[in-house]
Amino acid sequence: MTENEMSRYRDFLKDNLRLRIDFSLTDQHQGIMPPPVQKLPRVGQEMIFLPKEETFAAFHGTDLLAAISNRRSHRHFLGHPLPLTELSFLLWATQGITEILAPGFAQRTVPSAGCRHAFETYLLVNHVVDLESGLYRFLPVEHALIFEGEVENLPERLAEATLGQTFVATAPVTLAWTAIPYRMEWRYDIAAHRVIAMDAGHLCQNLYLACEAVGAGTCAIAAYHQELMDQLLQVDGHDEFTVYLAPVGKVRPA
Ligand SMILES: Cc1cc2nc3c(=O)[nH]c(=O)nc-3n(C[C@H](O)[C@H](O)[C@H](O)COP(=O)(O)O)c2cc1C
Repeated sequence: MTENEMSRYRDFLKDNLRLRIDFSLTDQHQGIMPPPVQKLPRVGQEMIFLPKEETFAAFHGTDLLAAISNRRSHRHFLGHPLPLTELSFLLWATQGITEILAPGFAQRTVPSAGCRHAFETYLLVNHVVDLESGLYRFLPVEHALIFEGEVENLPERLAEATLGQTFVATAPVTLAWTAIPYRMEWRYDIAAHRVIAMDAGHLCQNLYLACEAVGAGTCAIAAYHQELMDQLLQVDGHDEFTVYLAPVGKVRPA
């Protein structure tokens, strides 16, 4: 890598682009409607409604200081399936909607630049109570899942798509976050991508802390094969692509 190239990549972390953008030309300022807060289900896709916030009472007693201090990356999971209420809680903690503000604007349990929330959450389910194995997507507005389809040889494909990180394939469920960059570009143009990367950290950190409340563990995964992961999630790799993964499983008996 030449020094010049390295500088260019370093620049991605800086906020210089903002000064070059004419924000009066963004789609937002041109009066174009904001994109929807979540990708719509396909016609005929049934929703699997998840246990809602009222069922999370059992997780209230978690000590925040202990959760922050005990949080670790976990690469070994007990052989137990993940209960659906716990999965529901983890999805709420990472992307749950707390208030719909206006069309295209919804506040969630995590912060996001400009309240744009550019992510979709996919689930590669191996062993979750009451869910058959396969690919699902989370709908934060309805707090529901939709089944995207069975995946043949799911553990093998997941291990291959994570470049041989075989522990990922042993997890009862792996959350896979994609970005839909236009949701952020609508407001920030080419300054969108830096803040999308920042936002990804928020949802994964919430996942780590929420896992502490349910005796589960996770491990952030940024190393994966882009094309194989995008194929596994059935996304086009251009308008939507994988940005981050997190296998989840029980690490302490209930
Ligand atoms: C952005 C990011 C990417 C990571 N990618 C991977 C990964 O691909 N594989 C892996 O085993 N761990 C990965 N990790 C986990 C780190 O190795 C782990 O956080 C680090 O060793 C510190 O350990 P701790 O989380 O237990 O404090 C990643 C962590 C972060 C924050």
